[in-house]
Amino acid sequence: MRLAIFASGRGSNFGALLRAKADGKLPAAEFVALVSDKETASALGIARENNIVAIHVSPKNFPTREAYEAEILKQLEPLKIEGICLAGYMRLVGKILLDAFPYRILNIHPALLPSFPGAHAHRDTLTYGAKISGCTVHFVDAGVDTGPIILQRSVPVLDDDTEDSLAARILIQEHQAYPEAVDLFTRNLLRVEGRRVIR
Ligand code: GRF
Repeated sequence: MRLAIFASGRGSNFGALLRAKADGKLPAAEFVALVSDKETASALGIARENNIVAIHVSPKNFPTREAYEAEILKQLEPLKIEGICLAGYMRLVGKILLDAFPYRILNIHPALLPSFPGAHAHRDTLTYGAKISGCTVHFVDAGVDTGPIILQRSVPVLDDDTEDSLAARILIQEHQAYPEAVDLFTRNLLRVEGRRVIR
């Protein structure tokens, strides 16, 4: 399955996916393109180093989300992409991409959804006082981190945790969970029934 990764920043989940592929753990996945909304994203450099097509599209150059996403689709068209993995892509996915890839866009979120959606999951987890957190890989729908859940991994929240220490503990799990979910997805082993994802 030909995949595009979308990332806005450092790209450690992208790197984890590439390592899993190199280790033979993603037999059905082919990483074809990296799309970023941020010109400075390290993920773009990781793509170039690995001979993966690196695409930067700045939303600032487009009047609407629809126009921005239409430009991304136009650039992906010749690459015959069949699925998308969001990996630290800090934007809501709109109708254009959702309609082009129904139940074919995955995201990883650093909390146990439906708790603590949004951009400040670690801070919100600590503020709330939750004792367990983790990560969630889910299909993307029109909401903020609301799509059907593919898999989750948990970690303890410790009394002396900071946002950074909690994020680091969760990231270790993210780097295992995302390749695992992408493997199931690319081998067509996932079926969505309502909100439930059945293997
Ligand atoms: C990860 O914590 C991911 O869960 C969240 O954004 C962060 C991206 O990190 N969606 P990286 O760019 O993959 O290192």
